[in-house]
Amino acid sequence: MRNEQLFSKGGFYQFIVQSNAILHKEAAQAGHEAIARFLKTTNKKHIALLDLACGGMPISICRMVESFKDVSFDYTGIDINPDQVQAAQNEFTYPPNFNSVDIIEGNAWVLSNLIEQNKHYDVIFTGMNLHHGTAEEICCLLLQVKSLLSSDGIFINHDLYRPQGKDYIKRPSTNPDNELESFAMISPELIGSYKTPNFSIPAITANQSHSDWRNEFLDTYVKVLAERGGDQAGIQATADHVRQRDFSLNTNEMKQVCEKAGLGVTIYPYRTSLEPLKDYYALIVAQKS
Ligand SMILES: C[S@@+](CC[C@H](N)C(=O)[O-])C[C@H]1O[C@@H](n2cnc3c(N)ncnc32)[C@H](O)[C@@H]1O
Repeated sequence: MRNEQLFSKGGFYQFIVQSNAILHKEAAQAGHEAIARFLKTTNKKHIALLDLACGGMPISICRMVESFKDVSFDYTGIDINPDQVQAAQNEFTYPPNFNSVDIIEGNAWVLSNLIEQNKHYDVIFTGMNLHHGTAEEICCLLLQVKSLLSSDGIFINHDLYRPQGKDYIKRPSTNPDNELESFAMISPELIGSYKTPNFSIPAITANQSHSDWRNEFLDTYVKVLAERGGDQAGIQATADHVRQRDFSLNTNEMKQVCEKAGLGVTIYPYRTSLEPLKDYYALIVAQKS
């Protein structure tokens, strides 16, 4: 459960998105293509869209769908941060083909309320969120996503993925700077109730600096943000956030997690991008198998 200043009103994340340092434009383009393929296979003209950890400015998902003029979208976003909920509900301008917008304040990793209401969505998106979860938590989230997807629906994820061949870093159970803050995204009870498999990915402990993939990642990230005019305090807060909270899988591991959750998956790396961080990000598209 987090309410970090970085992602709050006036926080530095807005600059990160606008500078395209973490490839929101590429995500919008690849996601647009995925949704175009989906729309070709379905006759639906009204699409229910769910955005998990939407933030205050759900730019990528809006760019993915805004050009489908003959399709309307009912958009539901979930975010844990009240001021991001307020921004997404009252300040952000949605495309004209959005029929409705409903932003829910809550935990986007625990979807029991929507499942109990028997809700179904044609497109479920999450951007820059999964890299905080363990393989088991991501799998449990996907099992919940699976029960919320319409029969032909698609799940789309734009996220930070660790390069192949680099050691997986085990996420500490609590924040090293505040032992009272658990890093768990989902309770062990909910994970157990979904009979979520164990993945047992061989891991190293954070801050074994010689093999921490985030060192190289951060060197480039910090450089890119500085070159694009980011302020020093924001850059430092971003680097601290990565070191403290980012424990990405690689895309092969993510594929296994999706498959164990019963989702067939295609991975779209941003190969043609000219962005310096392109090798650290990918778009994942999954569907019930
Ligand atoms: C990096 S931003 C991503 C925003 C947007 N989805 C994007 O692609 O840029 C992460 C967002 O996740 C929210 N968040 C963090 N933990 C959450 C949780 N457990 N449930 C819902 N939202 C969460 C934060 O408040 C923040 O708005």
